[in-house]
Amino acid sequence: MASGPPDWFKSEQLAAYGKDIRESCEALLAFAKVTLGLLEHEKRRRGPTPIHDSIRNVVRLLRPFLDRSALQVDYDLAQERLTVWSSKAALESILTNLLTNSIEAFRRANSPTRKVLFRTRLLDEEARVIVLDSGPGIKDIGLDEIWLPGKTTTDQGTGLGLTIVKDTVTEMGGTVHASADSELGGAEFTITLPLLKN
Ligand SMILES: Nc1ncnc2c1ncn2[C@@H]1O[C@H](COP(=O)(O)OP(=O)(O)OP(=O)(O)O)[C@@H](O)[C@H]1O
Ligand SMILES: [Mg+2]
Repeated sequence: MASGPPDWFKSEQLAAYGKDIRESCEALLAFAKVTLGLLEHEKRRRGPTPIHDSIRNVVRLLRPFLDRSALQVDYDLAQERLTVWSSKAALESILTNLLTNSIEAFRRANSPTRKVLFRTRLLDEEARVIVLDSGPGIKDIGLDEIWLPGKTTTDQGTGLGLTIVKDTVTEMGGTVHASADSELGGAEFTITLPLLKN
């Protein structure tokens, strides 16, 4: 008599493994495409850049990676079109760094609910972009230390992500500020950028 699990069990298991591997590959590919895409010539040219387009573009391109991380993205965007003078690459690299930091914080804390909220507001002559998450918040590192190169609380981190964010925002004539916790319970990053006058 044949021993071991029945065939239907094996093929179902195999199908589940296959699906898992395919989804992991798609997630990795999405992440690689976004990071490599930032090097494209057209994306590196400065010009009028609508903030909302960059937010939606980053989320769209990272979708398989975000789904794989069970991340829910919410929006609370200003009615107005907020346009800044920047390259698309600069703005998208800021947003990608903040999103990946939230995902890493969720992973570290094994957070059951994983929400990131993109909020934008029009100020007098400035645009404000706020990225909040429902993770553990900024812990085990000082709020003044997170911007320094090499400062990280993760095993595999380089600690360069927020250094790049700060340098890029400063180059765009803006400021960035972090709060250890937010209305969603996790970290909050507030970026203020000069608006491009029409
Ligand atoms: N959303 C967040 N929630 C909690 N902690 C955060 C968040 N974003 C940043 N941090 C803290 O700030 C530290 C520095 O972040 P930074 O992006 O500079 O480096 P990293 O993410 O550790 O490494 P890398 O960006 O090279 O992968 C993180 O290690 C983490 O402790
Ligand atoms: Mg980082």
